[in-house]
Amino acid sequence: MANEAAIGFMDSGVGGLTVVKEAMRQLPNERIIYLGDTKRCPYGPRPNEQVLEFTWQMTSFLLNKKIKMLVIACNTATAVALEEIKKSLDIPVVGVIMPGSRAALKATRNNRIGVIGTEVTINSKAYATVIQKKSPHTKVIQKACPKFVPIVESHKASSSIAKMIVAEALNGLKKQQLDTLILGCTHYPLLKPIIQHVMGKKVTLIDSGAETISEVSMLLDYFDIAASAKKEAVREHEFYMTGSQNLFNNITKEWLNLKEINSRKINLKK
Ligand code: SIN
Repeated sequence: MANEAAIGFMDSGVGGLTVVKEAMRQLPNERIIYLGDTKRCPYGPRPNEQVLEFTWQMTSFLLNKKIKMLVIACNTATAVALEEIKKSLDIPVVGVIMPGSRAALKATRNNRIGVIGTEVTINSKAYATVIQKKSPHTKVIQKACPKFVPIVESHKASSSIAKMIVAEALNGLKKQQLDTLILGCTHYPLLKPIIQHVMGKKVTLIDSGAETISEVSMLLDYFDIAASAKKEAVREHEFYMTGSQNLFNNITKEWLNLKEINSRKINLKK
């Protein structure tokens, strides 16, 4: 039955787990199938054509698992591939940029919103386009932070090197009188305490992944495909990765606070 099918989540690596964490909190009955293309992460510095190709490969893998909804839990893939994938599939497809933009507009008081993300996301101007379409007088100040994803993927999000890199990257943004900053990459919530410390308490950080789950929840109800209540959903989650299984398992168990996970390494290339 469609309602008992899983929701598919994909990301270039472990960043999409920040979206999964929120899904497990808000939607505990739902079964999750997660795929992180950790071997080819980061996607941020890659050409758009390659990001599109890799995102389609992840989509095909998840479609073979008979998912009922697809969440592109990666800003870079959302910026490049969401529209094309949405048009081609007959299940709901959700990206992370629209929900993050809406939440930022709701939070800002001075209409000065910052966006940090990968090179592809920032060059696409996807956040600025959505925000300014809804609110033309809002100023959007963008900054690519290419060093953040490798820190998270190497499980060093709490290290002193992470603190140094974040402080250096956000130095210019601190002078921009922002009251809201979008974490425009699903890896960045793992650096949230450091980013908050650098930007100061007065700046509201928007976790676009977390915002996305409210949209997922709404769509499950709209299409009447929400799972029924059951106790063991968490044991049935499946996690797939293309790179080191040990590293992935350690980050996943720590971030999702799970003792064991059902995970398998796969190869996406034909
Ligand atoms: C990346 O692969 O470079 C980051 C993924 C994201 O943009 O969320």
